[in-house]
Amino acid sequence: MANDRFGRLIHYLRISLTDHCNLRCVYCMPEDMTFRPNADLMQDDEILLFVKLFTELGFDKFRLTGGEPTVRANIVELVHGIAHTPGVESLSMTTNGVLLGKIAQPLKDAGLQRVNVSLDTLDPVRFNRLTRWGKLEQVLEGIHAAESAGLTPIKINVVVVRGYNDMDVAEMARLTYENNWQVRFIEMMPFAGQTSFQKQQIVRDEEILERISKELQVPNIQNHGILDGEARIYRLPDAIGSLGFISSVTLPFCASCTRARLTSDGKLRLCLLKEKEVDLLTPLRAGASMEDLRTLILDGVWQKPWGHDLAKGDVALNRTMSQIGG
Ligand code: 5AD
Ligand code: SF4
Repeated sequence: MANDRFGRLIHYLRISLTDHCNLRCVYCMPEDMTFRPNADLMQDDEILLFVKLFTELGFDKFRLTGGEPTVRANIVELVHGIAHTPGVESLSMTTNGVLLGKIAQPLKDAGLQRVNVSLDTLDPVRFNRLTRWGKLEQVLEGIHAAESAGLTPIKINVVVVRGYNDMDVAEMARLTYENNWQVRFIEMMPFAGQTSFQKQQIVRDEEILERISKELQVPNIQNHGILDGEARIYRLPDAIGSLGFISSVTLPFCASCTRARLTSDGKLRLCLLKEKEVDLLTPLRAGASMEDLRTLILDGVWQKPWGHDLAKGDVALNRTMSQIGG
C-alpha cells in the first residue's frame, strides 16, 4: 500500500501516454508547442511494466491521459495490455474525442471502461477558436460512438474561458436534459506556457452556476451533496444527466486526494500543481531492479506535497498542462 505522510492512501494513477496532441486548445498549450521525440516517451513494454509495479503497490484505479492518448501508435493493443494486468480494477481515458468515432468500439473491446471527453462549446466557430483548429462534428460523432460502444457513463469536461465559451455554459448544462452524461465545469488552472492567459481568463465555478441558473430559469439548482472524485454534483429538475463542478482554484480538494501521475517521459508527479517529480524511466533504462523502482515509488508517494497554493498565486512552471495530462 502506498501512503503519504498525511495519511492519504494513494491508489489512483493517471498515466500520460504522450504529450502529443491533434488539437492546440488555448487553455492548454501555446500554438507553436513542440513535442518530445518518441524515444523520450515511455515505450509500450515500459508502460506495462510500470502498471504491474503500481498494482503490486495497491494501485487499482488507472486513467489514461495525454496530450491526447488516442494519437499514440498501437493504442488499442496498449489498452488491452493495461486492462488485462491483474489488479487493474478501473480503467478510463480522458480524450478530446476527435478519434473516438473510429476507435471507441475497439477500445471498449480491449477493456477500456469509460471515457471523459473534452467539449467546451456546441458552437462550431467558437469550438474551432478554442482548439485552434478542431472540428466540432468530429467530437460529437466521437461522443456518440463512445456511448454506443458502452464507454459509459460519459463525462464531458468543459473548461470555461472568459471571452471564448463563458456564454455557452447554460447550453452545455442543457445537454443533461436529453443525455445521461455528467457535464463537468472545470475552473481553468495555471501552468507553464499560457500562465498569464490562464490567470486572466478564468471564470469561477460560482459564476458559472449562477449563470446556468439564471439562463435556464432554475432558481435553485439541486446540489446532491455528493462528491464524484473531485466534482461536486448538481442536477437540473427532470434532467437525465448531472452537472459537476470541479473548482480546483476556488475550492481545492487536496485533503481527499488519492492520486499520483506518471508523465509520458516516465516521471512520477505527486501533485498536478506542484513541480516535485521522481524520475522512474531513467533508472529503469539504466537497469534498476524492481525493488529499487518500488522504493522510488513508495518514497515519492510518501513525499507527496499536501496540496497547492493557487489561491496565493503559486504556480508550478516546469510543465505545460499537456505535458502532465490533467
Ligand atoms: N485548466 C483546467 N483544465 C484544463 N484542461 C486542459 N488545460 C486545462 C487548464 N489549464 C483539461 C482539458 C481536459 C483535461 C485533460 O484537462 O479540457 O478535459
Ligand atoms: Fe490537446 Fe487536450 Fe490540450 Fe486540447 S486540452 S490541446 S485536446 S491535450
